[in-house]
Amino acid sequence: MKSVLRTRRSLIDLDDIAEDELHEVFARATAFDRSRPEKRLSGVACVNLFFEPSTRTFTSFNLAEIRLGAELVNLTPKDLSYINKGETIEDTVVTLAAMGVSVLVIRHPEEGFPRSVAAHFDGHVVNAGDGTNAHPTQALLDLYTMLREFETLQGRTVAIVGDVLHSRVAHSLIAGLQRLSAGTVLVGPPAFVPEEYATEGVRVSRDLDAVLPSVDVVVLLRIQRERFAAMPLADEEYVARYRLNAERLALLPSQAVVMHPGPYNRGVELDESVLRFAGWRYAQQVVYGVSVRMAVLDFLVNGT
Ligand code: ASP
Ligand code: CP
Repeated sequence: MKSVLRTRRSLIDLDDIAEDELHEVFARATAFDRSRPEKRLSGVACVNLFFEPSTRTFTSFNLAEIRLGAELVNLTPKDLSYINKGETIEDTVVTLAAMGVSVLVIRHPEEGFPRSVAAHFDGHVVNAGDGTNAHPTQALLDLYTMLREFETLQGRTVAIVGDVLHSRVAHSLIAGLQRLSAGTVLVGPPAFVPEEYATEGVRVSRDLDAVLPSVDVVVLLRIQRERFAAMPLADEEYVARYRLNAERLALLPSQAVVMHPGPYNRGVELDESVLRFAGWRYAQQVVYGVSVRMAVLDFLVNGT
């Protein structure tokens, strides 16, 4: 029987992946964590196209592609003829496909850009972050980190703290947490966490201190200042109410972990005590970022 997994072409958001497929990706990531993989992308040409700065996602996609034996090209906006020679992005990706490029990994400031590219590209598109919309591989590596910690997320509670409104990481992660039946509480001021986010399985709170004693995971977010014109509340007020510090860490249950997609801003959403906290999992997320991205590429290109 032909596997449904073979039909997946692109990963634009978590909606593109069913629950059994999530677990398939996680199982592959675990296998890649344990042993050096065969060159499962040998002869597969991948182009990374990043229109926004990136340290973690860019480097980990590069490492993932290299470790799987792919043929790899990195293009930056200044390399692209479509930027200043009147070519369209649609014609650009048709050209890349004609050269045998099979995988495009795209980060772009505009919501929907990777999906519109996927409509014209005869290959696989992986969204590496589009505007405030989605960052599916970050959500996958965050979920994977949580699952390695707790085995199942059913009955667990995850607090996502900070600028949810402008965070593509939060938007994809909320969808993933719902998929895995985790309780989710979004914590922040109304300007960053509008009441409309509250739905079945997702709570909104303004009070971080009240939430911390009953959570298993805290995901801190950076304030996405590049995505809005003016800070909607005073920095001091934000820090006083939402910065994670030693006093607040002491409110957490003993098994709780703290995560952050990075880049983190010291002195804003966290202070130095978080970086020394035994349950701080940032480095582990970065490590898993490579194996999860290998698993996503392998899953899209090779199916089951
Ligand atoms: N690096 C993540 C992103 O690109 C989160 C952040 O920038 O705060 O969405
Ligand atoms: N977490 C994340 O996407 O980091 P970069 O922006 O550095 O890729």
